[in-house]
Amino acid sequence: MSIPNSMPISMPAPQESRYPAAYAQSIEHPDIFWGEAARAIDWYVEPRTIFDPAAGVYGRWFVDGVTNVCHNAVDRHVAAGHGAVAAIHYDSPVTGAKRTITYAELLTEVNTLAGVLRDLGVEKGDRVVIYMPMIPEAVFAMLACARIGAVHSVVFGGFAAAELASRIEDAQPKLVLSASCGIEPSRIVAYKPLLDLALTMATHKPEACLVFQRPQTQAQLLPGRDHDWASLRASAMAEGRGAEPVPLAATDPLYILYTSGTTGKPKGVVRDTGGYMVALRWSMSGLYGVEPGEVFWSASDIGWVVGHSYIIYAPLLAGCTTVLFEGKPVGTPDAGVFWRVIEEYRVSALFTAPTALRAIKKEDPEGLLMRRYDRSSLRNLFLAGERADPDTVEWAQAKLAVPVVDHWWQTETGWAIAGNPVGLGALPIKIGSTGVPMPGYQIDILDEGGHPLGANRMGSIAIKLPLPPGCLPTLWRQDFRFTEGYLAEFPGYYKTADAGFCDEDGQLFIMGRTDDIINVAGHRLSTGGMEEVLAAHPAVAECAVIGIHDELKGEVPCGFLVLKSGVDRSPALIEAEIVALVRERIGPVAAFRIAITVNRLPKTRSGKILRGTMKKIADAQAWNMPATIDDPTSLEEIADALHARGLTKVSAA
Ligand code: COA
Ligand code: AMP
Repeated sequence: MSIPNSMPISMPAPQESRYPAAYAQSIEHPDIFWGEAARAIDWYVEPRTIFDPAAGVYGRWFVDGVTNVCHNAVDRHVAAGHGAVAAIHYDSPVTGAKRTITYAELLTEVNTLAGVLRDLGVEKGDRVVIYMPMIPEAVFAMLACARIGAVHSVVFGGFAAAELASRIEDAQPKLVLSASCGIEPSRIVAYKPLLDLALTMATHKPEACLVFQRPQTQAQLLPGRDHDWASLRASAMAEGRGAEPVPLAATDPLYILYTSGTTGKPKGVVRDTGGYMVALRWSMSGLYGVEPGEVFWSASDIGWVVGHSYIIYAPLLAGCTTVLFEGKPVGTPDAGVFWRVIEEYRVSALFTAPTALRAIKKEDPEGLLMRRYDRSSLRNLFLAGERADPDTVEWAQAKLAVPVVDHWWQTETGWAIAGNPVGLGALPIKIGSTGVPMPGYQIDILDEGGHPLGANRMGSIAIKLPLPPGCLPTLWRQDFRFTEGYLAEFPGYYKTADAGFCDEDGQLFIMGRTDDIINVAGHRLSTGGMEEVLAAHPAVAECAVIGIHDELKGEVPCGFLVLKSGVDRSPALIEAEIVALVRERIGPVAAFRIAITVNRLPKTRSGKILRGTMKKIADAQAWNMPATIDDPTSLEEIADALHARGLTKVSAA
């Protein structure tokens, strides 16, 4: 893979940044660094042991600390006299609704809902699945769980019933919180039928469901199991019932967030209570450079890790105002909506995925809509979730005239592994790089044998154990899968499954995954999971799914099918069924629209499908004929099949 040009842009000189000293302290004296960071948090019992290497799979942070996330995110700000400060600006261009919720109002709502959860039998340690759209009630739900020590697991609305079912099966929730519908620009997504279907699929049955009825669609409630959110809220409110924050061990789980692995079975990333708060709180000032009272907008979805950390927990822990945006970067109503929101709420920092910018750039390349709005409050634009292509970064930089800061992280880490520490004094931005390691992350680029490589050498990116606070301690009830999947290949390290290199200034460049995960419009998806769906079709003998380059979404999945002999229906019909099947089993978010029937798949002599070479052909990248290929002409057939669909610009062979 070629190494992109590094283009420093004008920023403060590195020597002005407090980053080098802070980073060095975090590695050489982690107890001092994280012990100081922990002072920004309220504890019922202050932690005396900052890190215990003997606890958990690779050690645990703040093992003897006792605290509560909801108290820190809500109650403490009210107690400090900031009850009148806006906690949430809810802005929903898809419904026309807008609502500002102060910290005092947030406390009332969260306290009341926590009381309702208690009434429904939810106790500390119980799991609660939240399957909800981007509405304030979803935020209340997450915080209410945190208040009473219930472990929430939010499922993104774009997943199908089967994906929801597999998460319910794994998390075994006592309660499911949902809403009657989500709203996509093109349609209303009725959530309740999907939830009902998921509950027929899962063998685990929650005791109850609490459903928030939205005016756009009324859900049918099942007597005895389903409860109307508004009625229970109203009676708890009228009776003044609530629930106080429960003191929790710093190591108690706050949430489980499922993410794609290499199979169709999602991985339950566990997030702890204390370490997560300490890391997030540090990041708001150290990384994002945002102060209490300022407006921080993460244009993501609460179903993703970015939504958990930077729509909800981090801004609220820092006493900032967060923006809950129920819309899209384009089409709700136009490509100016991001800039309208920035003007309206005086947003200081915007965090989004490059795909959102590419969508805006496509609609408004000259930035004409941008010029209609006052964006003077915006200091920085942060990007993450997928590789930020230099064209898009340069476009945004030029049009917005603010630094565009790429940073790299994963669901597993909960916050940035690498970035540009704006709060400590920004380092020169190199377009194409995701910046330098954040405190506590010791990053090495390893060769296949696990040996560290020098500057500018491409390899597997690994993080030396222990992972810093905020990162996953394990997978939900699967220590073994965690160890096998992340810690076994490179002993002493966490394997990120990303490949890339570090330049001579220590800046990191993320070039792609080493496994079969693809990134579609900033959404992480497993091609292995898609192949399981394709293989389940009765006419399919063999299949392979690869991610191919897409101008807007970065990557889109492309499935190749070999049909069973004797199948007498047309390939086009079966391809359409396959497309529908992936939508039904995984969900619309998979954006699976390309299925191509071929006579055979290219393989090595030992039978391994050559997915990597197929991808290079589709992306018109240079490729070498694998020495172990069974029949070289099989790759030509793939090139021809892609060409016939107009999916390759040139034949790269
Ligand atoms: N509930 C139900 N369906 C959803 C959904 C949700 N919460 N989110 C997306 N979908 C559906 C969409 O309606 C679409 O369905 P369709 O096939 O019927 O059109 C499908 O899933 C794919 O959605 P998406 O990938 O969002 O594509 P899009 O064409 O609708 O929009 C972008 C393209 C670029 C505007 C959009 O992907 C975007 O805003 N991306 C930013 C992603 C992001 O912020 N990620 C967080 C990481 S930081
Ligand atoms: P997720 O767990 O959904 O946050 O996806 C994590 C993956 O997205 C990472 O392992 C990377 O492959 C990719 N990713 C996230 N941020 C970046 C970035 N800034 N640059 C390149 N890839 C990224």
